[in-house]
Amino acid sequence: MPSPSSVALLSLLPSALAATTYDMVKEYSGSTFFTGWSFYGNYDNLTNGDAIFVTADVASSSKLAYVDSTTNRAIIKVDNTSTVVYNNKRNTVRIASEDSFEVGSVWIADMYHVPYGCSVWPAFWSQAPDWPTGGEIDTFEHWNMELHNQMTLHTDAGCNQVSPVQTSTIINSTDCSYLDDSNAGCSVMDPASASYGAAFAAAQGGAFVTEFSEAGISVWFFNRSSIPTSISSNASSFTTDDLGTPVANWPTGGCTIDTYFKAQNLIFDITLCGDAAGATSVFAQTCDGTCYTDYVVGNGSVYDNAYFDVASVRVYSVNGSNTVVSSTSAALVFPPNVWAWGAAALGSAVALFVL
Ligand SMILES: *[C@@H]1O[C@H](CO)[C@@H](O)[C@H](O)[C@H]1NC(C)=O
Ligand SMILES: *[C@@H]1O[C@H](CO)[C@@H](O)[C@H](O)[C@H]1NC(C)=O
Ligand SMILES: *[C@@H]1O[C@H](CO)[C@@H](O)[C@H](O)[C@H]1NC(C)=O
Ligand SMILES: *[C@@H]1O[C@H](CO)[C@@H](O)[C@H](O)[C@H]1NC(C)=O
Ligand SMILES: *[C@@H]1O[C@H](CO)[C@@H](O)[C@H](O)[C@H]1NC(C)=O
Ligand SMILES: *[C@@H]1O[C@H](CO)[C@@H](O)[C@H](O)[C@H]1NC(C)=O
Ligand SMILES: *[C@@H]1O[C@H](CO)[C@@H](O)[C@H](O)[C@H]1NC(C)=O
Repeated sequence: MPSPSSVALLSLLPSALAATTYDMVKEYSGSTFFTGWSFYGNYDNLTNGDAIFVTADVASSSKLAYVDSTTNRAIIKVDNTSTVVYNNKRNTVRIASEDSFEVGSVWIADMYHVPYGCSVWPAFWSQAPDWPTGGEIDTFEHWNMELHNQMTLHTDAGCNQVSPVQTSTIINSTDCSYLDDSNAGCSVMDPASASYGAAFAAAQGGAFVTEFSEAGISVWFFNRSSIPTSISSNASSFTTDDLGTPVANWPTGGCTIDTYFKAQNLIFDITLCGDAAGATSVFAQTCDGTCYTDYVVGNGSVYDNAYFDVASVRVYSVNGSNTVVSSTSAALVFPPNVWAWGAAALGSAVALFVL
């Protein structure tokens, strides 16, 4: 029998008792960072970018994806040394994890720099192979000279962001369906000043935590000076319970996570112009000139800041290795269209990005 005082204590600490402990199941870091990723190896036929996502061989030989020998961190970048002539696309990188991670997982990405600059559209995100079934989680994304990180879910119809507990502001729609608003998704904006662009780099970046749980999907972001020890210690187990209010939160109440989300492949990519960054009115919000002719075409010197600098990506799971789905399937090399925006739909989508 518990003593009366322990009964009282238990009733005061329901969340502590419900704590979910996750165990590390995968680590991408240091000299082996690029082991376990597929390089897309085709031009951007997903979002109409003026980009060629190179093969692993080209990425390595032209140093678009490599581990910096001084910092021991992974660099994923746009080619900023080649001259691209009119009617050609520029080389860049898109990699997807070979393993996918089921509901009941957390991934933590520690980055020092994210790509930015006019025409640059980077993302660190995840999706199930048969998108939109199985869903998409965008942990980090923005474009051009925007100042804040944007986080979004894209799903089949029926998933909504209802009663989130988060520090972000809702951009427009709380309907995550790819059919709503030309697939703009249910998108939120981090108010933190150092969440994107030059301010992110000046703060030496930080850590993004994505929790993919039956109870909901949440993202936390901690800038370098605020990263909790539970993250910086690289411990083999982890809990999100002491991280405080997330920047983004989609509780299962408005979106049954088990129904709308399946095992996710993690993706880093950088495209140029394309459906979002290159849409005329989106581009004009933060950049001058014409996206393709004034930036992609030329000697590439405008891309000196178009790179990810990643210390690590660590994946934790509530069920240990049971939530890791290993696959060598070719389907992972060419996932389906992600942002299925048609040119005709852009007129309506464009207004979403007015902040
Ligand atoms: C880093 O985050 C802390 C806590 O949110 C905040 O007080 C600080 O201003 C941030 N630093 C920068 C450079 O934005
Ligand atoms: C955590 O891992 C990073 C590399 O991902 C390393 O630089 C750092 O020193 C590690 N921290 C600890 C406390 O081991
Ligand atoms: C690259 O092109 C820009 C714009 O035309 C020019 O200002 C710059 O000097 C060029 N850089 C080199 C190394 O040629
Ligand atoms: C290209 O970008 C890198 C950073 O990614 C930078 O170090 C380099 O100076 C840039 N320019 C050239 C010509 O390599
Ligand atoms: C995790 O384990 C629990 C308990 O064994 C089980 O009910 C659940 O289905 C598992 N989840 C996954 C994604 O494997
Ligand atoms: C993109 O190109 C690859 C290679 O040709 C092809 O396998 C894939 O189906 C294409 N995807 C789309 C969405 O067109
Ligand atoms: C915001 O979302 C609503 C409902 O999804 C949509 O009808 C409307 O066009 C969107 N507004 C803007 C400014 O895009």
